[in-house]
Amino acid sequence: MTLKEVDSTNTFLKNILSNSKPVPEGTVIMAESQYAGRGQHQNTWHAQPGKNLTFSLLLKPHFISPTQQFDLTRAVSLGVYDALHPLLGGGLKIKWPNDIYFGSRKLGGMLIENMIQGGQIKNAIIGIGLNINQDNYPESAGSAISVKQILQRDYDLKDILSEICSHLEGWYLKLKAGKTDIVRSTYLSRLYRLNEASEYRSNGETFTGTIKNVVENGLLVVERNGTEEQYNLKEIEFLNK
Ligand code: BTN
Repeated sequence: MTLKEVDSTNTFLKNILSNSKPVPEGTVIMAESQYAGRGQHQNTWHAQPGKNLTFSLLLKPHFISPTQQFDLTRAVSLGVYDALHPLLGGGLKIKWPNDIYFGSRKLGGMLIENMIQGGQIKNAIIGIGLNINQDNYPESAGSAISVKQILQRDYDLKDILSEICSHLEGWYLKLKAGKTDIVRSTYLSRLYRLNEASEYRSNGETFTGTIKNVVENGLLVVERNGTEEQYNLKEIEFLNK
């Protein structure tokens, strides 16, 4: 379903789930424009209307235990990566935990909202925002870049959406088939700054560290002064080299 304008496709999907009618797995809600798009860390997600991909997908990953929910993040990131890779090639990376980067700039991100009930992930709302045909960004958008700024042409949003959905389904079915190892190792191999010494900040301290791994539950493993430390999303900030 495509909406002209909505507050947030994630919120819209959450609202229709709480109305009694069942919503099938695989439902996609796409919006031309969001006036209250949500990003990670309670940020707002801004995207010029009609020029970018902003959509949410409903999954029902009952087979993933809440302690393993980072596997879903991995599978979704890989689906987006694989859809964009034929266009963008080697410069494309996944920035832990689930941003899509080209070089050191952000092409998009995702907001995955898992609804846990009875020890199971009952519903997962996979919200994805990707910068596609936007020509420029305000200073406040930080490192944002669009596919158009890289390749100098416009892309059909629905074509990219359909590539994402089919690759994402492929990775989701791998998880469902228990092929978790391949999902984890492929995610790791696509990671931005893997095995590269770079600058980070944690607890008010700046340091040089090297990303070594992402453990099962999604914590980032960074080697710092010869020892490996694990960080969650709130504990570490990537600095620009
Ligand atoms: C981030 O990098 O902070 C995550 C951004 C996620 C944005 C998408 S756009 C579609 C969906 N609806 C929302 O309100 N947010 C996500």
